[in-house]
Amino acid sequence: KKLIVLDVDCGHDDAQAIMLALTQPNVQVLGITCVAGNVDVDQVCRNVLRVLKVFGRLDVPVYRGANVPILGKLVDARYWHGKDGLGDVPDPDPPSEELVQSEHAVNALLRLSKEHPGEISLVAVAPLTNLALAVRMDPQFPARLKELVIMGGNINGIGNIQPSGEFNFYCDPEAANMVLNSYQGVLMKIIAWEPCINELAITYDEWDRIMGIPTERGKFHAAILATSVEREKAAKSYGPHYHTCDPFALIVAAHPEVVQESEDVYATVELHGEVTRGQMVCDYRGVWNKEPNLRIIKKVDMKAAIQMFHDALQ
Ligand code: BDR
Ligand code: CA
Repeated sequence: KKLIVLDVDCGHDDAQAIMLALTQPNVQVLGITCVAGNVDVDQVCRNVLRVLKVFGRLDVPVYRGANVPILGKLVDARYWHGKDGLGDVPDPDPPSEELVQSEHAVNALLRLSKEHPGEISLVAVAPLTNLALAVRMDPQFPARLKELVIMGGNINGIGNIQPSGEFNFYCDPEAANMVLNSYQGVLMKIIAWEPCINELAITYDEWDRIMGIPTERGKFHAAILATSVEREKAAKSYGPHYHTCDPFALIVAAHPEVVQESEDVYATVELHGEVTRGQMVCDYRGVWNKEPNLRIIKKVDMKAAIQMFHDALQ
């Protein structure tokens, strides 16, 4: 089985990535590390436990990580994911928070990478604070991973939280910069913002079918997504499509064969721009003569991806 560790700031698309991870027959989830982003880190831990409970997998270890970015104040995304990060649907019987491990997320990442050298696909779908701390504590950490698949950044200067800033990178630009420039000896793949709203977007017809899956898992998924899907549908923000980001990082880690188009580039993150702080800058033309550090995923087999949602929620 593929060994996967997820690093999340559990909003509703992180929840989807977890759901897909737990239901791929070829995947073993070694642990889930939490970081502040969409909501504060304690709420992230609660949300992860909630998803694990619905999927009967409270055996998966959950680790609490950083609650603030490397520098600056936390910017959250409650406007998008709801005050609790999962669409503000009450949970009548929440799992005990004592289930969160006492070991810090960064220590857990370092330990797991030593226990399974060369075997772990780390799927990071949140601000990269934990990953940046990990490489500063142990510069050999990245080289012990099999690969790192990130959801974050932008490839053409288009953002969501800022005109040219994608949320995960904008939230902790220093961490994103540290990861892109210090993760030596590991293959890094990225699902950036623009493909999520174009090539990887899913029509409302398809979404309605997914939202209508009548199982307990399907109903939970539909409930936490409902507000955001309805809001976007009404606003026609992305035309006839709904978009989701984090599940695609998991899909690429679990099933690399679904990737249909990619491009290797050197990319870094703007830290000082007056209006572009947090923007990912890609040297497509090789002006800096640097070795590529990133594989940008541009297209995946969408039929296969949509089927994975259906299978996960059955
Ligand atoms: C990213 O930002 C977060 O709000 C989502 O969970 C996703 O990881 C998209 O920009
Ligand atoms: Ca996320």
